[in-house]
Amino acid sequence: MNSARYDNENNHAERVDFLTNREKSPAKKRTTGLVIGVLLGVLVLAAVTAFLIWFFLFKDGGADGTISKQRSAALQVFSGHLKLKDMQYDQKLEDTTSTEFSGLADNLQEIMAAAYKKDPFLAKYYTKSVITAFSEGVIAYHWTQFDIPPEHLEVLPEFTEELIQKKLWAGVQAHGRLSRQNIQIREITASYTDPRMTRDPRAQECFFRLEAEPVMQTFQSPDFPLIYPAKSRCQWQIRAPENNSISVRFNKFHIEDDCANDFVSIYDSLSPDNSQAITEKCGQRPPSNILQVVSSSNILLVNLISDGEVQRPGFSAEYKAIPITTSESCGGLLTNVTGQFSSPLYPSFYPPALDCNWTIQVGAGQKVRVEFLLFRMKEPGVDTRTCHKDYVEVLGTKYCGERSSLSLTSTTNKLDISFHSDESYTDKGFIANYSAYDPANPCPGQFPCASGTCIAKALHCDGWNDCGDRSDEIGCKCDTDQFACDNGMCKPNYWVCDRVNDCGDNSDEKHCGCGSSEWRCGDGTCIPKEVMCDTKKDCEDGSDEASCEVSPGICSDYSFRCDDKSCVNKVNADCDRVDDCADGSDEKGCDCGIRPYKQSRIVGGQNAELGEWPWQVSLHFMARGHVCGASIISDRWLLSAAHCFKTSSPENHLTANWKAFSGLQDQAKQAGAAVRTLKSIITHPSYNPMTYDYDIAVLELSEPLKFSNTIQPVCLPARTHVFPPGLPCWVTGWGTLREGAQKISQQLQKAEVKIINDTVCNVVTEGQLTSRMLCSGFLSGGVDACQGDSGGPLVCFEDNAKWYQVGIVSWGEGCARRNKPGVYSRVTKLRDWISEKTGL
Ligand code: ARG
Repeated sequence: MNSARYDNENNHAERVDFLTNREKSPAKKRTTGLVIGVLLGVLVLAAVTAFLIWFFLFKDGGADGTISKQRSAALQVFSGHLKLKDMQYDQKLEDTTSTEFSGLADNLQEIMAAAYKKDPFLAKYYTKSVITAFSEGVIAYHWTQFDIPPEHLEVLPEFTEELIQKKLWAGVQAHGRLSRQNIQIREITASYTDPRMTRDPRAQECFFRLEAEPVMQTFQSPDFPLIYPAKSRCQWQIRAPENNSISVRFNKFHIEDDCANDFVSIYDSLSPDNSQAITEKCGQRPPSNILQVVSSSNILLVNLISDGEVQRPGFSAEYKAIPITTSESCGGLLTNVTGQFSSPLYPSFYPPALDCNWTIQVGAGQKVRVEFLLFRMKEPGVDTRTCHKDYVEVLGTKYCGERSSLSLTSTTNKLDISFHSDESYTDKGFIANYSAYDPANPCPGQFPCASGTCIAKALHCDGWNDCGDRSDEIGCKCDTDQFACDNGMCKPNYWVCDRVNDCGDNSDEKHCGCGSSEWRCGDGTCIPKEVMCDTKKDCEDGSDEASCEVSPGICSDYSFRCDDKSCVNKVNADCDRVDDCADGSDEKGCDCGIRPYKQSRIVGGQNAELGEWPWQVSLHFMARGHVCGASIISDRWLLSAAHCFKTSSPENHLTANWKAFSGLQDQAKQAGAAVRTLKSIITHPSYNPMTYDYDIAVLELSEPLKFSNTIQPVCLPARTHVFPPGLPCWVTGWGTLREGAQKISQQLQKAEVKIINDTVCNVVTEGQLTSRMLCSGFLSGGVDACQGDSGGPLVCFEDNAKWYQVGIVSWGEGCARRNKPGVYSRVTKLRDWISEKTGL
């Protein structure tokens, strides 16, 4: 792979789903008593929103989005803590089976019950209050449940955090003094809580108390690594000695993908109140993106919630006590010429409720550049323009959310950076490089972006927004092979009229031959719009009937052919989750093209991550090691290029000389890979070694593959699947990093390339294109496959969330040269041959 381009826009987000997107009370926990007044309106609104979300999405397990037909009873749960005045902390309170625990817990539960029952409104719905734990302070953690019958649902908006806090405060003051232990309370918090999180520790089932120490210990979800139980409500209360915080690292994490039903939620408290949630996660995490969290003090709560159907192993985690990170122990003065700094405890999630300040100071006359390699401070309900919760602040601007590229420069030789996290929801944070630079020559030998980043000179005016702020594409004098957009950008000519808005202002798609009342056929001819979908073929290629709701009987070049030979006139009907064929054949064989590992994002790299391209195969030849790529199309079949096998040396055609490695990322780490020998090599009979026409081979494995997180089949597109020019796709392989290099790459490489229009492709390849080939890459050069990538896949991510193989790396003139894009075997054209040989 040859690549000079940065992965600016990385689209495979790690899954972070939040269960209930309730607005949280702006009340501060640790310090908050009662917040009354102006916020009441906001809170009422929040409660209504929360209820609606909960009612429509989660009630009755209606997580599939179906609206409950019947109004059913609702639960309203609030949890938080009570700070007790003048009370000695007794370690025995931590043991929920001790008489000390029962004594105080029962007493507090009675006080709370009395407080709620005194209020005529709340008394009607009050069910119970439970004390779940105590910690130093003395702090008692509680939750209270209210049941609202179906006929009273309209009162739900009245259940605000404000109201609960107020009533609890008043009631507890009155009743506490009268109680056996003369309990006085100095602080109360209560906020919305997911009813599934409430546990009675004295009930003891799936409830654990852990003591964190400086040495690491472990805990796991029940039955790990088999399958965690259905309908689990598990809770782990973790404590550490005073003045420590707790770090939990989930080395293995594999929960169902739908967070509405199954998830792990973690709290910076011993009560599961939303206002102190650290995070909520589901799905699967690869070793490259391990979930690690830290508490702000010596307590932490972990919950595992599951629904009825479970097939996943769960998690295994390590935990330990670590010194608390304070504002004094983070941040600092950085005075080196270059260096790196990160959010506290990176790559762990940063602790809640923390501020850190860094000052970078470089030599007089110089300036500072900061480049964030990763930036993620996402929080539900936060507007990333205002960043009112967690943020990094530089030169008066607050940054939050997720950024794929962020670089900043100072105005003087000093730059202050501050980091702030509030009490709820934390994230991975950031890691950044800083360096001093000379303002007179900010990017020696490179192009300086307005943001201060430096990029390779060749990327200036190449039609791509490499700087991130478009400064490399403004005011360019367009080359003859480029189109001058109205907004001053230059784009390769072949992107004009490809139905993709490449300029940003659509000027490349404005004057494309056909008038506004005309339809443009695949071959460029214009026909009146009225004749579209009139069940008659007006375009030579039938494209005017190809995506119509009804055009019965018409089988155009674009129709999907069902197994029963009927035609579906719909673009890309294969695996779109709609039954288009009466025999269901359009939705058959759709278990493909997914990446089980959620990917983490590292900007600027071209190394692929383990599991990122799970269909990629490395073909090793005799003692030479890797020579070609291939892709997994089923558990028994691989797809590759004919030219890897049909060479002048007959040894290449012998199955015994080949080994196929799947689940591999690093050629030096073959231990984790699955190795298979070949049973047969079938090359296309029409393969022409002179022209590389029909450059395709299917390889049968002698033993089937077992699919896993890192081994998965890619989807094969239907014969009529359309991959339009301009579509961004990815080519992967261990090929050389530049033209003429002797050694292949040790790490699997990835590069984003665009599908090139056939007419342009035929011109730039000087007429060598056949209909079994397609071009992909950039006419400006710089990114391409190269020697050793052959046989490997070119894949595109389609709207149905699956990866399709559109091409097989075949040939190219040199690598990554200007006007010499990579040429690939066109899978759609060869699709029938693949079926014929493999039955797929
Ligand atoms: N034929 C080469 C191989 O055997 C692949 C060439 C691809 N070249 C390119 N510029 N895209 O590995």
